[in-house]
Amino acid sequence: MANTVEERIKELRKVIEKANEEYYKNNAPSLSDYEFDSLLNELISLETAHPELVSEDSPTRHVGSDLGSTKGFRQVSHRYAMLSLGNTYSIGEVGDFVQRAVRGLEGKTDFTFSCELKFDGTAICLTYRRGTLIRALTRGDGLAGDDVTRNVIHIPSIPKVLTGENIPEEFEIRGEIYMPYASFDRLNSEKIEADEQPFANPRNAASGSLKLQDSSLIATRGLECTLYHFICENNPFKTHTDALDACIGWGLPVSGHRKVCRDIKEIDDYIDYWDTERKKLSFPTDGVVIKVNELDYQKELGFTAKSPRWAVAYKFQAERALTKLLSVDYQVGRTGAITPVANLEKVLLSGTFVKRASMHNEDQIRLHDIHIGDYVYIEKGGEIIPKITGVELSKRTPDVEYIVYPTHCPICGAELVRDEDEAKSFCPNSFGCSEQIRSRMFHFTTRKAMNILAGEATINQFYEKGLARTPADFYDLTLQQLLTLDSWKEKSAKNFIASLKKSLQVPFDRVLFALGIRYVGAQTAKSLAQHFGNIDAIMAASVEELEAVGDIGKVIAQSVHEAMHNEDFKNEIERLRKAGLQLSMEKKTARSNILEGKAIVVSGVFSISRDQLKEIITDNGGTTPSSVSKKTTYLLTGENPGPEKVRKAQECNVPLLSEDEFYELIGGKPEITSIEGAKSLSADRNESGKDEITDLTLF
Ligand code: IVH
Repeated sequence: MANTVEERIKELRKVIEKANEEYYKNNAPSLSDYEFDSLLNELISLETAHPELVSEDSPTRHVGSDLGSTKGFRQVSHRYAMLSLGNTYSIGEVGDFVQRAVRGLEGKTDFTFSCELKFDGTAICLTYRRGTLIRALTRGDGLAGDDVTRNVIHIPSIPKVLTGENIPEEFEIRGEIYMPYASFDRLNSEKIEADEQPFANPRNAASGSLKLQDSSLIATRGLECTLYHFICENNPFKTHTDALDACIGWGLPVSGHRKVCRDIKEIDDYIDYWDTERKKLSFPTDGVVIKVNELDYQKELGFTAKSPRWAVAYKFQAERALTKLLSVDYQVGRTGAITPVANLEKVLLSGTFVKRASMHNEDQIRLHDIHIGDYVYIEKGGEIIPKITGVELSKRTPDVEYIVYPTHCPICGAELVRDEDEAKSFCPNSFGCSEQIRSRMFHFTTRKAMNILAGEATINQFYEKGLARTPADFYDLTLQQLLTLDSWKEKSAKNFIASLKKSLQVPFDRVLFALGIRYVGAQTAKSLAQHFGNIDAIMAASVEELEAVGDIGKVIAQSVHEAMHNEDFKNEIERLRKAGLQLSMEKKTARSNILEGKAIVVSGVFSISRDQLKEIITDNGGTTPSSVSKKTTYLLTGENPGPEKVRKAQECNVPLLSEDEFYELIGGKPEITSIEGAKSLSADRNESGKDEITDLTLF
């Protein structure tokens, strides 16, 4: 726990930045909305009370950013900043908002409020020119967003061409892409079936789907769109509602769940109504948005740095329950990651009884100052496993117990190591910890990996009877040994052996995935396999060479490098090689070898995205490390290159290369298809490449 205000501010900033990153970039929220908003409000209050501690880079000063969370999308500047909304959970604060508007509009009385449902999805900004959809951008960091036009055109409810009268020459309309519950359930069942990680909630499913690399899959995701904010130079409308009604006339999807209210009483009734009625809706909503309806008055009220003064979001409180924390268990994952799990006094939450809840990591426990014996709030939100979101301090008794976080693995006793980046403790004993060994074997057998017919119970028996301790042991099992398993008859044993035989044909990329190297999910395994062609080349690769692969950042590269130099891992590979597994595949061939042996670092803003440039480099035999060193051949610079990179290049005598010079070097600019010629705003935003972080820590 922080002891001083300054320490608490630092702690809150760190937690909020991390939560922003998890929410916007990894699509895997670690805090509930309510928790996040409470922490942000605490930070705002502390910064207001202590202006000397305010800092420009505080998360209270900028909106969270999803920029660069997925590679392959150009970043394009927003014509008008795309801000978020101030939000509150209290009707009293909605009243304050109304009062502020009244004061701001000095004596005017003829204004109204448009109250609307707040759709829980991911924000989108569409531009129509001469009635045709020309661009779709995500919010990004509010100033520039990812250009997702190629995906958005596959969402059926978004018209590509408008019909009707008086359509402005060019306008923007903003809204939300969301996933109805039915599509969400279907998608998650498919994911579970395919042994993939399901989405935590419909909002993550919507934003994850919007950024799919393969546009043709978008149409299968059942995404919907609702539009709620019309923006146009010389706006011809008097009110926000008039604008939205006209949009409906042109064929745009605008929700009918809106009401013009005159005062706080009407607003309050509208909120009350939807707080219960929303449970009957087929799509996710998380509140009500209240907007000053008259556009002139909106202009008069204007914006703060982060949000408009003419609108506010009232958020519905997710269903919560209060119950007693009895004890904490510590689970060891396949990756060795330790997760604290709360044992609770049984309580009813959203129709089901809950006895266990996730506590994430030690930081979360300390952040909320949770003790055993405390009464804790648990929430489900849209998520699958309930989590503890706070403590009711007024119910604390003197006998509560401090939670002593383990320093040693509860399974094997090895001393835990802490990964600061992930705020998690890990058991480093990958090859000696029974829990990790078992989960590793199980992962190897799953469908997306080797597709071997063995369930968790079988794996446990293999382990307990000492028949198999690593995946390579499967291939040495005999029929006689298999028949010693409880309830295994000749047929099951033969089926198992047949599936083992079949697994010898599983292509190299899936074998690589099956090995369960930390951070190497199916997609990363594919990229590595295609780039290097065989396991020996991967084993021989340096961290920099690994990083040069299209979608691989430093963290993944280091993890792969570490695994490839682990003696136990190398031994396992040799045994799998002897068993006959596919450890090579056809390499994606380079277009040319003009850049062979050349390490080119890319930095700045170019006419195409940095990822496209990197692909051109690797297609021509070069590598693209992320940082400048003495080994770098060129620093390829666009506009606004990273100053640190330029300084390092000068220090290491690395020549700078412009985009045009680069094209000259490779004999001309290759053809790249894109919708609009706008510049990519990719300045050094996502160089970590950490876009596919799976929970597969083994080595
Ligand atoms: S108006 C200038 N209306 O909720 C702000 N936003 O938490 C214009 N949202 O950023 C936004 N439903 O992404 C508006 N009916 C609605 C909305 C809505 C959902 C989203 C939007 C916004 C966020 C704020």
